[in-house]
Amino acid sequence: MSITLNTDYLKGFIQPTDLSSLTAQVQAAHLGLHHKSGKGNDFLGWLDLPSRITEGFLNELNALAKEVQSHSDVLISIGIGGSYLGIRSTIEFLGGVSKLPVYYAGHNISSDYLHNLLETVKDKRVTVIVISKSGTTTEPAVAFRVIKKALEARYSAQELKKRIICVTDEKKGALRTIAEKSGYRSFVIPDDVGGRFSVLTPVGLVPLALAGIDIKSLVEGAVKGQNEYSVMDLEKNTAYRYAALRYLLYKKGKKIEVLSSFYPEMFFVAEWFKQLFGESEGKNGKGIFPASLIFSTDLHSMGQLMQDGERNIFETFVMIDKPRFDVEIPFEAEDIDGFNYVAGKGIDYVNKKAYEATAAAHFEGGVPNMTLTLCKGDAFHLGHLYYFFEKAIAIHGYLLDVNPFDQPGVEAYKKKMFALLGKK
Ligand code: PA5
Repeated sequence: MSITLNTDYLKGFIQPTDLSSLTAQVQAAHLGLHHKSGKGNDFLGWLDLPSRITEGFLNELNALAKEVQSHSDVLISIGIGGSYLGIRSTIEFLGGVSKLPVYYAGHNISSDYLHNLLETVKDKRVTVIVISKSGTTTEPAVAFRVIKKALEARYSAQELKKRIICVTDEKKGALRTIAEKSGYRSFVIPDDVGGRFSVLTPVGLVPLALAGIDIKSLVEGAVKGQNEYSVMDLEKNTAYRYAALRYLLYKKGKKIEVLSSFYPEMFFVAEWFKQLFGESEGKNGKGIFPASLIFSTDLHSMGQLMQDGERNIFETFVMIDKPRFDVEIPFEAEDIDGFNYVAGKGIDYVNKKAYEATAAAHFEGGVPNMTLTLCKGDAFHLGHLYYFFEKAIAIHGYLLDVNPFDQPGVEAYKKKMFALLGKK
């Protein structure tokens, strides 16, 4: 098992019979997905995506990566939402160590941000990857315009063909037209994979390969997830158990899920999770509000509310069994700070004790909580976790009887913004 689920601290909140009473509903959700007969069934390309990624394609991306790394100092990745979060989450989870430093653009409309970014890269050799499934999203389109203009002042049109890569729809959208007219290299986002489920399509794989991330391991972990979480049996399928438990907690008035972890490297994984879960289930007046905290940092800011605030929260911890590196706490002869009692222990040991204490305290304070534990904090286990959450939210969406694969609500602000901007 690459991921385990501990539910000890649901005791008293969820009865074993509550879970078994959901068996038939979970099976119906499973069949709806796997027979492609449920809501949103034209967006199920993610379901068997990991196993359809070929070795040849990954080799092609790694070869492109070598070429780009040889002529670039930095990569600018332009995109927002599903065309941004999975990339950043992967790079940051793996410790931010990439062969090609990555800067992000198109995920906000701050002029100061864009100005500072252009200043930062002005003396660097730049490659840009612009990612937009629709090819028409305002934030990345505007950022791409600005960045392209800056690059045009430095590079010939011929050189830009090497330095601009587009990831977009096969036929539709302005970005496809731009790529074709200008002769930029391009990759296709499959029609049947929604933005928030697209981290293992070229949306994620191309920039991650360019950055030097081990995309083969990421995909292998997801393939393992695809196999493990294709089992219909609620007892054997951890993703389904997690989905069913969330559903039961929601029905008992726990309307907010806090994804808590004890690693700052998880910050963007949680951001990715929030988009995946929030956009998938928050519709028709339903849906758990996904929030996230990074401990122990946030225990010193949000700890009070978690322990003692309104009891409409449940918590899901994400822990990592073995850190990639551990750091020993040194012994000091004088022991002025009084911490010799942990001398010789690893920092991870203290972190795990902080987790154990927090999970117990929050439970006693009325916050039911469960813990997902990954064996390791590497690309393989992250790929596995991505698939775990994708499968879990698909099942949970069906339990809630919503379409987990659309996002009609996202259009409302855009319509008003376009009217204010005078778009014709
Ligand atoms: O999940 C989604 O579909 C959205 O969050 C999109 O990923 C986001 O709006 C970006 O869209 P696009 O890739 O079309 O620019």
